[in-house]
Amino acid sequence: MRRGTILVTGAAGFIGSHTVLALWERGFDVVGLDDYSNAERSVVARIEALGHRTLTMIEGDVRDGDSLAAALRAPDIVGAIHFAARKSIEESFLETRSYYDVNVAGTLAVLQQCQRAGVNALVFSSSATVYDPAQPAPVSETGRTLGASPYGRSKLIGERMLRDAAQANGQRYAILRYFNPVGAHPGGSIGENPRGRPGNLMPVVCRVAARRQSQLSVFGNDYPTIDGTGVRDYVHVQDVAEAHVHALEALIEGREALSLNIGTGRGTSVLTLVDAFERANGVRVPFAIAPRRQGDVAAMVANVDQAALSIGWRAKRDLEAMCRDAWRFAQTLA
Ligand code: WQD
Repeated sequence: MRRGTILVTGAAGFIGSHTVLALWERGFDVVGLDDYSNAERSVVARIEALGHRTLTMIEGDVRDGDSLAAALRAPDIVGAIHFAARKSIEESFLETRSYYDVNVAGTLAVLQQCQRAGVNALVFSSSATVYDPAQPAPVSETGRTLGASPYGRSKLIGERMLRDAAQANGQRYAILRYFNPVGAHPGGSIGENPRGRPGNLMPVVCRVAARRQSQLSVFGNDYPTIDGTGVRDYVHVQDVAEAHVHALEALIEGREALSLNIGTGRGTSVLTLVDAFERANGVRVPFAIAPRRQGDVAAMVANVDQAALSIGWRAKRDLEAMCRDAWRFAQTLA
């Protein structure tokens, strides 16, 4: 049953590529937009092989209205999911202008072109980094927001633009605040593979396990947490992808405004994740304690009740599955 076409910006990216497959599984067609600044072109062929179909892709910058308009001319567009953005907290302190340009101007361009094309259902990729870390965990959607980095602030501005567009012209939106997406599709051919040196924990753990990096630097072990290392809410990228489809379907069915945490509700420290990874995969991950990293917080864990109530979504996959799936994909990398 054809359910219409969805525009996915950042379709070749980590969460975008997994979401394309989840959309296909639920009967949607997809048109993707990507500039391949943080994804290999080869990801498109891998998505097609996993999904056994062709993926229509427009190569373009998300800030470019003409590229977006071209993508939105695909037949029967019923919604859009906007992933394309820069997403490193640490990097955002060094490349602040670029973060506002891509993340804020890009979101504005998506809003403008969707409105012109009459596309009313928009899912927005936001982040747990919008929250003020100085509040009790787990944090709910009504928690205090702060945006403690240019990255977090660029996401808060994006959320604000969506809410204003809803007031001004009836834009229906779902803001999804991801905690820490990790893992990979069980097929093993797509996963987290950022250009350049990875900054996120799971890809670094995989590099160390694959002997492509000698050891993991654990950024601080003097946080007020179970073992002194940073605690995060890791969530399988397959669960995150499925959350996008649930949210999109809710908008298409008429929901007007959603703002949801996407996590598991469980906190995991760096050392606990390393231990789980070693046990799940039978590998060693040598590490050394290093100084804290700029922008890091002690703990960030989601209250996930709202997503279950609003869109009937809860994460299903556990930490072992995240570790196994991440490692299976990492072993395919050169
Ligand atoms: C996790 C933990 C580090 C690397 C991410 C994304 C951000 C946003 C939120 C989507 C921390 C520690 C890491 C390393 C380490 N996601 N660490 N050594 O910082 O929570 O932010 O999730 O919007 O885009 O960056 O994730 O994986 O970088 O760090 O000790 O080499 O691992 O200190 O405690 P973070 P992360």
